[in-house]
Amino acid sequence: MGKDFLIFGSPAIEEAEIEEVVDSLRSGWLGTGPKVARFENDFAKYKGIDESVVAAVNSGTAALHLSMIAAGIGPGDEVITTALTFCATVNAIIHAGAMPVLADIDAQTMNIHPAEIRSKITPKTRAILPVHFAGRCCDMDSIMGIANRHNLKVIEDCAHSVESEYKGKKAGTFGDFGCFSFYVTKNVITGEGGMIVAKNEKDIARVKVLALHGMSKDAWRRFSDEGYKHYYVTECGFKYNMMDLQAAMGIHQLRRVGKNWLRRQEIWNYYQQAFVYLPVIRPPESEPNTKHGYHLYTLLIDKDRTGISRDVFLNEMTKQNIGVGVHYLSIPEHPYYQEVFGWKPENYPNAMRIGRQTVSLPLSAKLTNREVEDVIFAVKACIVGS
Ligand SMILES: Cc1ncc(COP(=O)(O)O)c(C=O)c1O
Repeated sequence: MGKDFLIFGSPAIEEAEIEEVVDSLRSGWLGTGPKVARFENDFAKYKGIDESVVAAVNSGTAALHLSMIAAGIGPGDEVITTALTFCATVNAIIHAGAMPVLADIDAQTMNIHPAEIRSKITPKTRAILPVHFAGRCCDMDSIMGIANRHNLKVIEDCAHSVESEYKGKKAGTFGDFGCFSFYVTKNVITGEGGMIVAKNEKDIARVKVLALHGMSKDAWRRFSDEGYKHYYVTECGFKYNMMDLQAAMGIHQLRRVGKNWLRRQEIWNYYQQAFVYLPVIRPPESEPNTKHGYHLYTLLIDKDRTGISRDVFLNEMTKQNIGVGVHYLSIPEHPYYQEVFGWKPENYPNAMRIGRQTVSLPLSAKLTNREVEDVIFAVKACIVGS
């Protein structure tokens, strides 16, 4: 990679994170400890909820998997989710032993369509797993209405939506569980990491046991200076705990969550204006009474309008030293799901079309104005020059 290449999704890291990580290294306490507890506390405050309903884990995928199990979902159950998401959303359902059922998206918002959810409900349906795509909240009034009528659990995939709000309520606090990711490209990063927020304390107590082998006491208390504590394995759990090394980054990232959001909003608006006369499809403005998380800025490249295909556009942008992303090919495009579930992309036409046309542009809070100009210049060169 050349030194001028603009990396897609490169996080905005500052000295505070670096010093906190070094402090952990020097302290000798790398694993789950006081910094994880602090990060959980800070996250709970940010979400306006009690710390007893929050648990940090080592990825967003782990958050989804544990939420499924804690929600009591398992073999014989069906879970409805969106056809346009990262594979981890669907894999978490499969890992819990349940059957994923895909619903197509709304072509404008790119979020799961409530009417599609309704049409997929069967006597086996146990849960809905909406994804607030790109940071735009799903239609939570409709989704919660469907869930209440059919007595379904709701597990929100909030990997894109730390900051998002819908009618004044924060993403992750609608359903029984909200699952966040702090992967390197996300709005708040810990390298790898995730967070679960739950409606009730009992569920989080179970999640915490499941996240550390099913042990009744966590390792921090076991090795603290309070004296040795025996632990007992109460169920067959996983190794999903977050380390202090990870939380060290998260604590400082979370302090700048508002500032970084403002910068991404600025870049997002800049892109919106810059591309107004290009024959590309821009994302719709955020819906009234909602807060968009501005995690992704996506353009749709329709070859019939632009004269250039999405995949050629991706290559041309890379040649211009701009890193780009695709979020995502629709789930039924992948061979595993075709082979195991027989899914066909054309049965989810909106997700298929958008998955084949979408391109994500760099949107990190760390971008300079000059870099944003470079991205805009490259997009115009690829489209107008084609
Ligand atoms: C929509 C969505 N769900 C789940 C995940 C999984 O999160 P993680 O990579 O932290 O496991 C991601 C991110 O990678 C994602 O974008």
